[in-house]
Amino acid sequence: MDNDTLNSAADLILNSKRNVGFTGAGVSVESGIPPFRGKEGLWSKYDPGILDLSYFYSNPKESWSVIKELFYDFFGSAKPNSAHKVLAEFEQMGLLSSVITQNIDNLHQEAGSKTVYEFHGNSRNLICKECDITYPVTEDLINKLPPRCEKCGSVLKPDFIFFGEMIPEFAYRKSVEEAQQAQVFIVIGTTGEVVPASLIPQMAKENGVKIIEVNPKKSLFTDSFTDIYLQGKASEVMPELMEKIKLKL
Ligand code: APR
Ligand code: ZN
Repeated sequence: MDNDTLNSAADLILNSKRNVGFTGAGVSVESGIPPFRGKEGLWSKYDPGILDLSYFYSNPKESWSVIKELFYDFFGSAKPNSAHKVLAEFEQMGLLSSVITQNIDNLHQEAGSKTVYEFHGNSRNLICKECDITYPVTEDLINKLPPRCEKCGSVLKPDFIFFGEMIPEFAYRKSVEEAQQAQVFIVIGTTGEVVPASLIPQMAKENGVKIIEVNPKKSLFTDSFTDIYLQGKASEVMPELMEKIKLKL
């Protein structure tokens, strides 16, 4: 990563009144969680149809066995990496107002970030859509598949959104507010391919927000509206960015 690009990103962050993080699966790759797209992506091994709501409710056992393998056997062991930790430290330093994440892995919160808007929900709870009761995920709750509601016996669904489901209202509203109020977005580890999530950085750009992007590969954002492209892995670039910022304080 060349010095000038890092320095200009650091200056943007320090001179901005409101910085917001916007993350995708790439920020958690170095925590051992595979991305969805790209050569090692989950969607190259599994059918994204398992996250289709009608398939899920008509084939709960089959869908749950893949969901458990993808999102529960894996994620339990993942730990925040230095990129998650730098974002949490930015927040503590007053340099970041929130993180908008497409991820459901809870790693931003585990790294210490306090204001996290989960655009696609979170995998730590299961929900009964009949009774509108949520159950925190425990070993024995997902040992017998499909997990069922104690009250009504219906199949429980992970509390993250499936394709075609509504974005959680609070996360959506707060993300739109950030796109209107921020001066800088730090976009980390996303292809920018999934709507409506990818519309948030787009909305920000249209409102004059400066976009800093961290990704080893170009995304749909890079050539269209990224102002400063920090090419590299999140857990390498973010500590370098933090170092530049601390030298300027
Ligand atoms: N550091 C930073 N970025 C990385 C790294 C890394 N170490 N490794 C990979 N990436 C980048 C890839 O280059 C790619 O741009 O992370 C991105 C991963 O792309 P996706 O898996 O498509 O992740 P994302 O854009 O978050 O997907 C959006 O799609 O399936 C849905 O709900 C799911 O939230 C997900 C949404
Ligand atoms: Zn129920």
